[in-house]
Amino acid sequence: MLEPRPSLKAPNLGDVITPADAMKWALIIARNGAGFVAPNPMVGCVIVDRDHKFIAGGWHAKIGEAHAEADALDRFSLVRGKPENLAGCHVYVTLEPCAHEGRTGSCAKLLAPLKPASVTYAIQDPNPKVAGQGAKILSGAGVVTVCLSEARAWPAFPDKPIEAGVQIDLVEEAEDLSEVFLWTMRNQGKGALPFVTVKVAASLDGRVSMHSGESQWITGEQAREKGHRLRLEHDAVIVGRKTVEADNPSMNVRLEEFAGHVNSVVLVDPKAKLMDRLKEFNIAKVRPPERVFVCVQTGVADPAAVARGRAQGFNVFEAEGAKSGVIDLRDMLKKLRELGIGSVYVEGGAGTVGPFIDHDIVNRLHVFLATSVLGGKYATGWSDLCGVEKLKDGWKLKRQRVKLIGADIHITGRFDL
Ligand SMILES: NC(=O)c1ccc[n+]([C@@H]2O[C@H](COP(=O)([O-])OP(=O)(O)OC[C@H]3O[C@@H](n4cnc5c(N)ncnc54)[C@H](OP(=O)(O)O)[C@@H]3O)[C@@H](O)[C@H]2O)c1
Repeated sequence: MLEPRPSLKAPNLGDVITPADAMKWALIIARNGAGFVAPNPMVGCVIVDRDHKFIAGGWHAKIGEAHAEADALDRFSLVRGKPENLAGCHVYVTLEPCAHEGRTGSCAKLLAPLKPASVTYAIQDPNPKVAGQGAKILSGAGVVTVCLSEARAWPAFPDKPIEAGVQIDLVEEAEDLSEVFLWTMRNQGKGALPFVTVKVAASLDGRVSMHSGESQWITGEQAREKGHRLRLEHDAVIVGRKTVEADNPSMNVRLEEFAGHVNSVVLVDPKAKLMDRLKEFNIAKVRPPERVFVCVQTGVADPAAVARGRAQGFNVFEAEGAKSGVIDLRDMLKKLRELGIGSVYVEGGAGTVGPFIDHDIVNRLHVFLATSVLGGKYATGWSDLCGVEKLKDGWKLKRQRVKLIGADIHITGRFDL
C-alpha cells in the first residue's frame, strides 16, 4: 500500500471538517505525547460543533496529567466560554474514553453530563477497567456513542454510511498508534515480553555497513529524524556491543522540541567486555547510569565485572544463553519487562538484529532504504544473521506501509505474534 492518504493540514478554528478528518487529526495530535505518556497510550481528541466546524483538539501530553478529552475540553472552553457549551457538539477520540478514576478522573464521566451530541472513538480500550464501560457511561447518559471499529454510520451524519476503506484505515491507524499499549494490556503477568520494534537503515541492496565498518550515514536527514521520533515512542533503545565500540553512538533523542528528554538504552554485551570502559562511551555520557541497562550472559560474563558495573550505578542484568550460544532474547526481554521496560526499539547492528528476527519476537519492523546501491561481497546485510530454509517460511509483514521520506524509502509493517 502506498501512503494511504496525504497527511492532513492542521484545521483552523471554524473550518468545516469531515468526521474522517476529525478522527485523522486526533490520530496526528495524539503523537504529541510520544515519549511522555507510557505506560499510558498516546491519545488524541477533536471537538467540532453541531455544524462540524472545528473548535479544539487536545492530547494526553504527560503521564499523570490531563487525558486527551480533558485537554480538548479545556481548549474548547477557552473558545466557547465554558465546558457546558459542549452540548450538541461532536467529540472524536482515538481510544474509548476511560471509565475509571486513575491518576486523573474518568473521561466518560467528564463528558457524559455535558451532553455532547456524539462521542466517536476509534477502538475499544482493552484495559479491563474500561473495556466498554466508558461507552456504557456515555450512552447511559443519552450520548450517541460509536466505536469506529464496529460502526456503520457516522454519528454526525446518521444517514451517511462510513466509506469502508476510510473506516478500515482509521481503525488500523488507531491500532498502530496504540500498539504498545494494546500489546501490554493483552500480555500481562509472568513471562510477558515488551513490545519489540526493529529499525534498519540500509542501502537499496540491504547493506548496513561497508566491509571497512563505515556506516554513517546511509540514509538522509529526514529518515534519521524519523528514527529519533521512533526512539521517543519506546521505553528503551537496544544496541549491540560492536556498534557501541565502532560508532560510539549516543542513542538519545535529538529533536529540538524534545530537548531535555532522557531515554533509556540497553547494551547487549554478553561477556561484559565494555563494562570497565562504559563511562567513556556516549551512551553512558548522555544519560544517568540507571538509564543504562547492560545485558550480560549468565555464566559467560565475569561476575567481578558485573559487580563493578553495578557499583557504578549501571542497571546490569543477566540473561540465559540459548542453544546457539547467543543470549536467549526471550529471557532478556522478560527481564526487561520485569525491570519496567514495556517497549524496546532495536537499532542494531546486524549481529543484534538477526537474532531478534530469528527468535520470532519482533512486533514491528521499520526499514529505511537509501536509493543507493553499495554492493560488495563483504559489506554487511542487515539480515545476514537470520534466515529461513524455504521461500514459504520467510517472515512476512502485515499491514505494510510504504512511503518516501526525503530521498529514502520507508517501509514498515507488523509481524503476527
Ligand atoms: N545501518 C544501520 O542501521 C546500522 C545500525 C547499527 C549499526 N550499524 C553498523 O553495524 C556495525 C556493527 O554491527 P555488528 O553486526 O558488527 O555488531 P552489533 O550488532 O552492534 O553487535 C554484535 C555484538 O553484540 C553482542 N550481541 C548482540 N546480540 C546478541 C545476542 N543475542 N547474544 C549474544 N550477544 C549478542 C555480541 O557481543 P560479543 O561479540 O561481545 O559477544 C555481538 O558480537 C557497525 O559498523 C555499525 O556502524 C549499522
